[in-house]
Amino acid sequence: MKQRILIVNSGGDCPGMNAVIRAIVRRAEMNPEYEILGSVNGFDGILSEPLELIRLNPKVTQGIIRKGGTFLTTNTQRSPFQYPVKQDDGTIKIEDLSDKLIYNLKVHGIEAIIHIGGNTSHIISQKLFEKGVNIIGIPKTINNDLSVTDYTFGFQTATQVATDAVDKLVTTANSHNRVLILEVMGRNAGWIALSAAIAGGADVCLIPEIPFTFDSVMAKLKSRYSSDGRGFANIVVAEGACPKGEKCEIHSGAIARRITYELKTRGFEADIRETILGHLQRGGIPNAFDRILATELGVKAFDLITQRKFGTIAIHKNRELSHIELKKAINQYNAVDLEHNLIHTARGIGISFGD
Ligand code: F6P
Repeated sequence: MKQRILIVNSGGDCPGMNAVIRAIVRRAEMNPEYEILGSVNGFDGILSEPLELIRLNPKVTQGIIRKGGTFLTTNTQRSPFQYPVKQDDGTIKIEDLSDKLIYNLKVHGIEAIIHIGGNTSHIISQKLFEKGVNIIGIPKTINNDLSVTDYTFGFQTATQVATDAVDKLVTTANSHNRVLILEVMGRNAGWIALSAAIAGGADVCLIPEIPFTFDSVMAKLKSRYSSDGRGFANIVVAEGACPKGEKCEIHSGAIARRITYELKTRGFEADIRETILGHLQRGGIPNAFDRILATELGVKAFDLITQRKFGTIAIHKNRELSHIELKKAINQYNAVDLEHNLIHTARGIGISFGD
């Protein structure tokens, strides 16, 4: 009887998710005693009735290394510990289905789970491990906000998308003497904004780690215009950026629109427009870096299965592939360190953080 391993991906998708699935499958093919299954739509596949599991082999995963998204599909709101269950009267009740999950794994002869996810997903991984599930984690997210690993796959591709957007906005800002604001994702980490601002040549970069003032932003913008109103400027703002002294909630587009409003209220004369890059950063073809990183982590995760190192997460740290206990990995948020060389570099070329 083959040992069955279940791949579950959960949380938001990111470029490289298909590449990691393919790598696990190809690695497993060299170990004929293993069989790989994929759970459709996060944990839904292993919790639904009937189950929605796909038998994965290199034929099924052929060609997916170059495809964005995840062919298994995923979701952001369905933890097995807080699962929305439709009741007979049509209402939804949140229930703990973790025992059902463990039962289903047993009944279907599934020995272990490889869980691909971000920080929230791996809090679930750790809880399942504590309940006796053999589980190995793989980190993913465009935000690059997990400090256990040097880079998460998805980040480099998202940064390229954001940089391409800055490149395009710079030329049209120049043509129209405008200030163009680009809002990028990243949640509470400014990595995408910081990287795209440097690579794209923005004038102002606003990130969650550095609270800003509108007056300081305005001073930088004014320095980009001559007295006859000619000039242009580009701002890259992370969705989680927040003015000094305020507490902000992340809502797509909110901070970009707020900046426009505040600058106009303060009498800034040039035309200002916002672009909210949104899910363009999450979709599309993974770049080479993300495909390679995802492939490395997929192979590593499968090797951790064969070594029975359950309760761990595969990581890429200090240029080495390794692993660390899930409980040590979760909640280690990778915010931009204010002493990071990219902050010095950005300041060194005159990018203002509005501080
Ligand atoms: O965590 C990844 C991320 O892309 C964040 O950068 C962003 O805030 C969020 O997901 C958007 O998620 P949703 O899929 O709910 O729009």
